[in-house]
Amino acid sequence: MATLGIDLGTTHTVVAHNGRASVVAPDEPRPTLLPSALAYPPSRQELVGWEAKRRRPIDPVNTLLSTKRLIGARSGSYRAQRFAEHHPYEIVDHHGVAAFQTRCGVVTPVEAATRLLCTATMWSGCMTATRKAVITVPASFEQEERQATMEAARESGFAGAALIEEPVATAISYLDRSNVRYAVVYDLGGGTFDLALVDCSRYPFRVVAHAGDPYLGGDDVDRILAQRVAERVLAEHRWDLAADPVTFARLTAACETAKVALATQDRVLVELAEIDPAGPWTSQPTALAQHDLVGITQDLVRRTFSLVDHVLSDAGVRTKDVDAIFMAGGSTSLPGLRETVGQYFSKRARFDLDPMHVVAVGASLAAARPDLAGLLDAEGFAA
Ligand SMILES: Nc1ncnc2c1ncn2[C@@H]1O[C@H](COP(=O)(O)OP(=O)(O)OP(=O)(O)O)[C@@H](O)[C@H]1O
Ligand SMILES: [Mg+2]
Repeated sequence: MATLGIDLGTTHTVVAHNGRASVVAPDEPRPTLLPSALAYPPSRQELVGWEAKRRRPIDPVNTLLSTKRLIGARSGSYRAQRFAEHHPYEIVDHHGVAAFQTRCGVVTPVEAATRLLCTATMWSGCMTATRKAVITVPASFEQEERQATMEAARESGFAGAALIEEPVATAISYLDRSNVRYAVVYDLGGGTFDLALVDCSRYPFRVVAHAGDPYLGGDDVDRILAQRVAERVLAEHRWDLAADPVTFARLTAACETAKVALATQDRVLVELAEIDPAGPWTSQPTALAQHDLVGITQDLVRRTFSLVDHVLSDAGVRTKDVDAIFMAGGSTSLPGLRETVGQYFSKRARFDLDPMHVVAVGASLAAARPDLAGLLDAEGFAA
């Protein structure tokens, strides 16, 4: 029977089996990543993954992203209110839980997670009736968020499911064959920053202390880049790309693509005519350079350090007691980020495993261990 490791991320869903990420989006440039996106176009046919994400600039209100931020939230709660401030969706009450109103009706966060789990596992080729999964959750998840994740696992037809904390999964990925005591897991994803101190001296590994910011990540970089481009275009062309929310969403999506390309290129062009065909474009497309990104990255990293300090002082551990730093999350590829984190700890930050796979891979390695019962919230996993 296949036991899968699944990272049900805010931005991407990743499935791994026996320590390797599986293909979940064939025919796409990054086939191991399924965007955690659902869309409800006028045709009323639900779209999942890349097809859904591409609709964000066209129809932001009916393109659900970052639904994980709302999983397990009661309607009217602080979490639901904060979510509504950051996203363009209509949030409604559905039997006491916060849910999304779309043109195809109400979608709950558990339903969204279920669709993502079903789609990812279907593409990974593991749709057997008796499949099991180890699913990752942030260390910050409270009981109701964990329960809601388990509910999605059940609804997706997993005969057995266990939850494991994301930093523990990352540490397992790195430490399957070696040993350290204190590891810091620095996880900067699309929407969320999570920092955890993990005691790896004994299995099961244990999160000693953690902190995070559910609204800090790559999305901020995309938005700031888009604002910079819009300011530049306003000064040069007297044309405001920020005036219309749909145009600005298209610009933000283009800036995300440019940001990822800047990991390997010095300079990337942003085609203004594709973003706003109505604009007065007479000259060349505007360019973004790596140095545009470095300043934004430095500000972002500085914001994470107060949480690093908080976690270490909570645990009574000094930076010099930290044996290893493991990087997870796609945004740790931002230029200069891992060097700055390494300098903070006076230690090289480990980045040798793919930061967008490392969580799912660790969960799949945990799944293969006989002492799985030591993990959190295992259900239906009895031999
Ligand atoms: N090469 C790159 N350079 C910079 N950022 C990148 C790169 N590749 C991916 N990203 C960014 O990484 C983010 C997604 O990371 P990841 O898939 O690890 O998040 P996630 O685990 O789904 O979300 P979260 O951790 O917030 O729950 C996106 O903002 C994406 O733009
Ligand atoms: Mg993540």
